[in-house]
Amino acid sequence: MKTKTLLMPLDMHLHLRDGVMLETVAPLSAYSFSGAIIMPNLVPPVTTLDDVVEYKKRVMSAVPNDYFEPYMTLFYKNYSKSFLESVADEITAIKLYPDGATTNSDGGVASFDIEKMRETLETMAELEIPLCVHGESAGFVMDREAEFMSVYELLAKNFPKLKIIMEHITTKDAVEMLDKYDNLYATITVHHLLLTLDDVIGGMMMPHHFCKPIAKRPEDLDALLSIALEAHPKVMFGSDSAPHPQHKKETCGCAAGVFTAPIALQLLCEIFDQYGKLDNLQAFVSDNAQNIYGICPEFKEVTLENRPFEVPTSYGNVVPMYAGETINWAIESVE
Ligand code: NCD
Ligand code: ZN
Repeated sequence: MKTKTLLMPLDMHLHLRDGVMLETVAPLSAYSFSGAIIMPNLVPPVTTLDDVVEYKKRVMSAVPNDYFEPYMTLFYKNYSKSFLESVADEITAIKLYPDGATTNSDGGVASFDIEKMRETLETMAELEIPLCVHGESAGFVMDREAEFMSVYELLAKNFPKLKIIMEHITTKDAVEMLDKYDNLYATITVHHLLLTLDDVIGGMMMPHHFCKPIAKRPEDLDALLSIALEAHPKVMFGSDSAPHPQHKKETCGCAAGVFTAPIALQLLCEIFDQYGKLDNLQAFVSDNAQNIYGICPEFKEVTLENRPFEVPTSYGNVVPMYAGETINWAIESVE
């Protein structure tokens, strides 16, 4: 049977939430990943040193015996230099949300006034804290990411020493932007390597495929596959696994977010194998992230097998992507 061993898999964009949800989902990520960048969009968001320290403790206590490093983040505000210096040792990145762009993003950036952002962004560059960005404008839903490219350019040009991560990219516009500026990087989710808008609303409406940014056109999917399968060195895996309780997904007014954490590595093996690119998966799922972020995760070895695996219909009260369906790779062992 065909197998694939991955060393220190990393999820560079993960929502773990808090409370009971955290207890449900954190062990699932901790099982198959060495570490993850933990999103700060709690309610209220993570904005103080105390918030970060306390949230990290709650994450660690939700993780069982397995080793798992939560790389913590702050929710972007125009923070002062002295505040950033005081918090730098506790965080790996800062996450910028445009105000109201997605789930729990209220209080994000309302206008990209470079002069108002300068102290924060220059200090982040000095302290080598990357800026992770949810890149969507307030425009028509299919154009939101493409319209945001001008903001990425503005940030990349004004802060050339700041590492800027274009999070969960979904368009060929973002793929083209990646190589225009040395300081731009990107994460890609597994669902955006599988879905187009047709899979969300082309037939029956599929709440468990609905997320922000929404899956786009076939040509966008092809552009994402082209850089992911080659493990372009500026691109990393970030699941954007975003759990919501079943009643918030399967309802009128469905929350945005796809829950993929427990099946992400299996699906990545399936995709990379299908295109004959399994040899590049290690770079996409770990090595590139280690280089970009300068992190050294502790040893973990995950071996997957090319055999059928039936995705559970739920994990607690969360329904995963492809619930009840059979996928073609399974986790065999974790050491
Ligand atoms: C995320 C969430 O639920 O927190 N939702 C989503 O659709 N991806 C927020 C985000 O990353 O946009
Ligand atoms: Zn997210």
